Amino acid sequence: MSKTIAVIPGDGIGPEIMTATLRVLDALDCGLSYEFVDAGMIALDKHGDLLPPSTLEVIGRHQVALKGPLTTPIGGGFTSINVTLRRHFDLYANVRPAISFPGTRSRYEDIDIITVRENTEGAYLAEGQTLSEDGETATSIIRNTRKGSLRIVRYAFELAVKKGRKKITAVHKANIMKTSSGLFLNVAREIAREYPQIEFNEMIVDNTCMQLVMNPGQFDVIVTTNLFGDILSDLCAGLVGGLGLAPGDNIGAEVAIFEAVHGSAPDIAGKGIANPCALLLAAADMLDHLGMVEKGSRLRQAIRDTMVNDRDQITPDLGGKGSTESFGEALAKRLQG
Ligand SMILES: NC(=O)c1ccc[n+]([C@@H]2O[C@H](COP(=O)([O-])OP(=O)(O)OC[C@H]3O[C@@H](n4cnc5c(N)ncnc54)[C@H](O)[C@@H]3O)[C@@H](O)[C@H]2O)c1
Repeated sequence: MSKTIAVIPGDGIGPEIMTATLRVLDALDCGLSYEFVDAGMIALDKHGDLLPPSTLEVIGRHQVALKGPLTTPIGGGFTSINVTLRRHFDLYANVRPAISFPGTRSRYEDIDIITVRENTEGAYLAEGQTLSEDGETATSIIRNTRKGSLRIVRYAFELAVKKGRKKITAVHKANIMKTSSGLFLNVAREIAREYPQIEFNEMIVDNTCMQLVMNPGQFDVIVTTNLFGDILSDLCAGLVGGLGLAPGDNIGAEVAIFEAVHGSAPDIAGKGIANPCALLLAAADMLDHLGMVEKGSRLRQAIRDTMVNDRDQITPDLGGKGSTESFGEALAKRLQG
């Protein structure tokens, strides 16, 4: 795999957090080089297209991209760029780790949960949406496939093996949605038998919400369908102090795109106070993906240490007095020192 990666700085706070993140990656001495490409509002201004074909070509060529948040203009018939990227590269696995960091305002201190969400089918896609002429009845189709379920469940088990995780919980609603959710659950049971070393359990989605809030320590890796994963992963982010610390990895058979879960934060763009942690954590996952696991671990540990020891340098949302730049510099110094 190429050591050149595609970099999309993004909109709003995107360029600020990307500059800090690349500064830190350089301090880690990863041997990466970057090809910068446009997407989002900047691309619309420059090329008249939110997602120019040249951007897709560069991502496809390097197979790995680090992406800042993108603004999707409201109205005007614009499709979400993120949904387009997932479709174009068939990025079927959305991996969202939620890890506790010291000194953050959160309900629990020892959360370490990875949500593996199916990213390409199911209720979330709202296929065939229609509204009756009288406006009284809305319809959409839920389509889950055996192929889609197989590849996401297998991905979750392989991830668990690779990361030394102990347990997988398949989250479903097969008691009511007997065909769509039932198909996913049956596939999960089937694949689980191939991995006797990983504990497997299954849980109905509504109970999972309550259990996550009451007793999150029982969860290790969650695998689930698209819409449930969308909701549960935000719940997990809330358990560790919010979206500022939540990375999101979009993985396909050939291409992988790493990003922060949060958006372009127009309310704080240009103020230099955006927290770069979510993008930095996505970069750490990218290093794992590129086979640089030791560097990924060093980066996560440096974030932890900086949050505890350099509180004047970290961003205000974490209770610090620093800026995006000072946070990046403190991390870079720690990694170089
Ligand atoms: N992956 C993506 O590209 C992505 C994801 C979500 C939203 N968006 C887009 O982003 C734009 C803004 O969306 P929004 O305002 O609903 O959500 P947002 O996540 O951008 O912001 C929500 C709140 O969280 C704060 N926040 C977000 N990231 C932060 C950070 N790193 N440090 C400190 N505070 C942070 C913001 O200041 C804001 O108050 C929209 O156009 C939306 O479509 C893009």
